Amino acid sequence: MLPNDPPRWTIEAAETTSEPSHVAIIMDGNGRWAASRGLPRVEGHRRGVEALRRAVEAAGKAGVQYLTVYSFSSENWSRPQDEVMDLLNLLRMFVRRDLAELHRSNVRVRIIGERSGLPGDIEALLEEAETLTRRNDGLTLVVAFNYGGRQEIASAARRIAEDVAAGVLKPEEVDVAAVTARLHTTSIPDPDLVIRTSGERRISNFLLWQSAYAEYVFLPIHWPDFDGAAFDAAITEFRARDRRYGGRTAQVSA
Ligand code: IPE
Ligand code: IPE
Ligand code: MG
Repeated sequence: MLPNDPPRWTIEAAETTSEPSHVAIIMDGNGRWAASRGLPRVEGHRRGVEALRRAVEAAGKAGVQYLTVYSFSSENWSRPQDEVMDLLNLLRMFVRRDLAELHRSNVRVRIIGERSGLPGDIEALLEEAETLTRRNDGLTLVVAFNYGGRQEIASAARRIAEDVAAGVLKPEEVDVAAVTARLHTTSIPDPDLVIRTSGERRISNFLLWQSAYAEYVFLPIHWPDFDGAAFDAAITEFRARDRRYGGRTAQVSA
């Protein structure tokens, strides 16, 4: 190739749609929301469940196909035991109270995260949510529970090692697709937009592999204050972004 030739791998206007198909949310700030009102943290978490209902509704209205919510990280076990108990109880309540309504609304529920080692009734509830809604073809609600991106990648690496040891995979076949296929998110497309509330600007071990080319929007509100207007504001910011995927947009290269 001559130095002046345009690189053949240039992607022009790689992304033609400006609507996100997969929105992921780091629901953060419940504790600070409660503290600023002189309320116990658990009240912030309770109001956070209400915000989650509003998020599902907003995603449905916006025509989003996948909504992933970070509800409990692998690292959240390090919180005081009573707070961990409160969070587990809220998950139990959410599944018991909201599953029928989600099913009626044609929502398909998927759970990502480490299942083994969870209290038995929680494992059963998560299983029930996925099984009941598995044939629905509306919004897919992906709940990240006991989820950590590093743990997920490590577990994919372990499965690859097992497959290589078993002779069903050759080392030279280990590529991006081979890793992707062994993550918890199999068959779920990568997030286009990751929203984090509470003003914190970090990933906190969320969808590390899958967010390689996601757009991030950080909202200054705490999660219990999240509503349809906040969702729409994040989508508006997303639409103004210029996604390049390492290539060049038509605008820049014209
Ligand atoms: C998000 O709110 C809920 C979980 C992480 C489970 P936090 O509990 O993290 O609230 P802050 O960040 O301490 O305000
Ligand atoms: C991330 O929030 C996890 C969830 C929202 C479930 P954290 O509050 O746990 O994250 P850090 O500790 O501020 O990074
Ligand atoms: Mg937090």
